[in-house]
Amino acid sequence: MNAERVMEMDQQNVMRTYGRVPIVFEKALGARVWDKEGKEYLDFFAGIAVNGVGHCHPRVVEAVCRQAATLMHCSNVYYHAPGAELAARISELTGGMKVFFANSGAEANEGAIKLARFYARRVLQQERFEVVTTLKSFHGRTLATLAATGQPKFHQELQPLPPGFRHVPFGDVDALAEAVGPQTAAVLVEPIQGEGGINMPPDGYLADVRRIANQAGCLLILDEVQTGMGRTGSFLAHQQDGVAADIVTLAKALASGLPMGAFLARPDVAEALKPGDHGSTFGGNPVVAAAALAGINVLFEEGLLENAARVGNYLQQGLKELATAHPTVREVRGRGLMLGMELSAGAPAVVDECRQRGLLINCTAGNVLRFLPPLIITESDVEQALRILHEALTKVEAQLPIA
Ligand SMILES: Cc1ncc(COP(=O)(O)O)c(C=O)c1O
Repeated sequence: MNAERVMEMDQQNVMRTYGRVPIVFEKALGARVWDKEGKEYLDFFAGIAVNGVGHCHPRVVEAVCRQAATLMHCSNVYYHAPGAELAARISELTGGMKVFFANSGAEANEGAIKLARFYARRVLQQERFEVVTTLKSFHGRTLATLAATGQPKFHQELQPLPPGFRHVPFGDVDALAEAVGPQTAAVLVEPIQGEGGINMPPDGYLADVRRIANQAGCLLILDEVQTGMGRTGSFLAHQQDGVAADIVTLAKALASGLPMGAFLARPDVAEALKPGDHGSTFGGNPVVAAAALAGINVLFEEGLLENAARVGNYLQQGLKELATAHPTVREVRGRGLMLGMELSAGAPAVVDECRQRGLLINCTAGNVLRFLPPLIITESDVEQALRILHEALTKVEAQLPIA
C-alpha cells in the first residue's frame, strides 16, 4: 500500500483528533526513522519522548518477542515474573517506592489523584480533596487530568469538569503557599513543564514546593511522565533537586515504546489503597513489563543517563550559539535532552523546513521548538541537527515580514 492510500484510509476512518503531518513511517532504528518512500529522518522528537533508548533497541525487541511468545497477557488477577521484577527494579531506583502499573500518563496521574484523596480520608482522616496544580501544566486527556491541566484552551466546551482543582502560576512560590490549605490533598507539578513550552522553574522551586506541601500537611505528586526515565540526565528529574516526592507518575519512555504508565508512592502512602480501590485490565502486562525492564537495563548498562547529560549540554550549547545568529530566537532552555528554543515567530514553519531536510522536531506552546531526542544520540547527530536547524531558521527568517 502506498503512502497516499494509507493517509486516505486513515482520514476516512480514524477520528480527526490529531493534526497529522503527511508522512507515513515504515521503520526505525536507533535515532533514525524511514518513511514509506525510503527517506531517512534524524529523530529529535522520539515519539514525544517515548523512544528513550532509541527505536527498536535490540535488547528491548528481544525481550518483547521472547515474552510475547511465552505469556502475553494473564490479567492482574494473577502474578507474573516480569511485573514483579520490574516493580522491584523501580523500587530499588526510587528509594523503596511502591508501584501501580497503568497504560498511559493520564491514567498514571488519574490514579495518583485518587491515591491522594484516599490517603487524606483514610490515613489523615481529613476532608481534603483538592489538588493544586500549575498554569501551563499538562497532565493528560481524561476529564480529571484535563481539570488538573492548567491550560484553559483544553477546558473549552467540556464543562462541567470534575471539581477539586486549583491552578497557580508555575514557579510562583507565594501563589502556591496561598492556594494550599486544609482542603488540599496534594500539590501536583511537573519538575520541568513539557507541553507548556519546556518551562524551567526558578532554582530551588521544588524544594519550596516540598516545604509548602509539608506545612500544609498535603502530599507532593511529581508528574515525571515527560521528564522521567533519564531524559534530564538522572533517572527521575527531581533526583537532581534533592527533593523527595510522596507520589511520582511515569509513562512515555517507561516501556521503551510500548504503552505503559505508572504511579509510584512512598510505602506508607501506598498503604491507603486497598484491594478493589483501583485497577486496570492491561496495566503492567507481561509484555510491556518485559519491555520496560529491558529498557531500564539498557539505560544503566549503556550509560544513557550520562549521555543525556553530556550530549544534552552539547546540544544546548549549540542551540545557544545558533540563537546569537538568528534574530527570531528569544530563548534556549531546558535540561539534559529536554530542550526548548522559543522563537518570536515562525516556529511551525521551522518544524516543516527541518522535516523536509530530514530532521524531526516539534513545536509546542505556539512558538517553542522542542527537542526530545532518544538518549542514545551522539555529538555527531547533534551537529547534523544543528546544521539543518540553522538552514531552516535562515529560510523561515528570510520569509518573515520585517518587524
Ligand atoms: C507531563 C505529562 N503528563 C501527562 C501526560 C499525558 O500522558 P499520556 O498522553 O500518555 O496520557 C503528558 C503527555 O504529554 C505529559 O507530558
